[in-house]
Amino acid sequence: MRRGGRRRSSLPAACSGPGALPPAGGLVAVLLVAVLALAACGGESDQGVVLTFPGSAVGAEARVLRTQLDRFMAAHPGIRVEQRVTPDAADQRHQLYVQWLNARAPEPDILQLDVIWTPEFAAAGWILPLDSLGADAAPFFPNTVRANRWRGHVFALPWFVDMGLLYWRTDLVDGPPATFAQLARVAERAQREDSVRYGFVWQGARYEGLVTVFLEHLGGFGGRIMDDSGHITVDSDAAVRALTYMRDAVWKEGFVPQAALTWQEEQTRFAFQNGEAAFMRNWPYAYPLMEDTAGSSVAGRFAAATMPAGPEGEPTSALGGSQLAINAHTRHPRAALELLRFLTAPRQMIERARVVGEYPTRRALYAGDTLRGLLPIPPARARELIEHAVPRPVTPVYSQLSSLLQIQLHRALTRQADPRQALETAARQMRGLLARVGLMPGGSSGAARGDTADPAEGNRG
Ligand code: GLC
Repeated sequence: MRRGGRRRSSLPAACSGPGALPPAGGLVAVLLVAVLALAACGGESDQGVVLTFPGSAVGAEARVLRTQLDRFMAAHPGIRVEQRVTPDAADQRHQLYVQWLNARAPEPDILQLDVIWTPEFAAAGWILPLDSLGADAAPFFPNTVRANRWRGHVFALPWFVDMGLLYWRTDLVDGPPATFAQLARVAERAQREDSVRYGFVWQGARYEGLVTVFLEHLGGFGGRIMDDSGHITVDSDAAVRALTYMRDAVWKEGFVPQAALTWQEEQTRFAFQNGEAAFMRNWPYAYPLMEDTAGSSVAGRFAAATMPAGPEGEPTSALGGSQLAINAHTRHPRAALELLRFLTAPRQMIERARVVGEYPTRRALYAGDTLRGLLPIPPARARELIEHAVPRPVTPVYSQLSSLLQIQLHRALTRQADPRQALETAARQMRGLLARVGLMPGGSSGAARGDTADPAEGNRG
């Protein structure tokens, strides 16, 4: 990483971060003390501060971030922000962060977190409680803020929000299907009559994306991963039906390609934008890219809707997106918060929406005309979709739960296990994990989400 010989503001020892961390129970208290100490430190000068920021280094997303960081630096001449390139795949980025943070590295100062990681990082003492530093979470969508709370504190600010969408080809299909049965019928017909190679493409590789695809099928069949009190419910009949539908789509009806079992977001986008698929499940980022005639052969010939549902479920969009948090060991908490405030301010969010089609997390922006024409979905409808998007379980052990689930989902989809057996195994292992870490509902530490300070916060995943 370039430092360009710039002087870092040297803080007295008491101002160099929270220091050695005690076991989980006292972490939040220690972080609060650290935050207060840091806030009280006059040592953090705004002169010669270098902040490191990991972020996407590709395409328009990288360009808009560069523009915004340059704008921030022009307005804050004493602060320089250096970008660190990180992998785009959620699981790989997570691994890298864990290595950095476990080593208590003071850099990167800012962290771009997937919506599912905040409780884990907060419980580990790796990120600062932002409300204690003076950040205001009130303007953001409540479900995105909920995913960023831990033991009553807000640990990350929602940067942009993702929700799963069903993309469909307007030249091949009359309208988006309302039911799973209809989706199967229309997808197969498109394959047969319109000679598209694939009926429907989704992310079927064994990684986090597969959990979001499953969650959307699951909600459509009326099931959930975890209930409001923190019980694992992923082995319900509804879940078995959802996973069976997904497996049969690949192996029986064949409207989802076997290749999709190795695909992440980008591979599905390539298939769809090359004109090879009638339907695709993906996030909003794909929309502007597929409208660009330079790389897409379906520009002007597709639209996005919600996923279908069966008679017992509801159309379900997974809640995703990126959050911004501050490394607990940063030497520059004030400058870092300044940057977070700047990047989550309306101007930057609106620009991000215009350039890369990523949805603002500020609720008020969806009223009036501010976003009209900038997003493919009318703002009022987009707000509705975001507010109803279904979060994955909000718990500090989410990543481990997800890994257990990913393995079993993939086993069923590749026909190494039948769906019921796979889900029963996943549920048993997930319950075992919660019991081991003391997060079983009714256990001494409360529900799996562990947020006993705020029982109103539910898990709809
Ligand atoms: C997107 C979402 C994120 C999700 C990931 C899965 O990046 O924003 O929440 O976990 O996709 O691949």
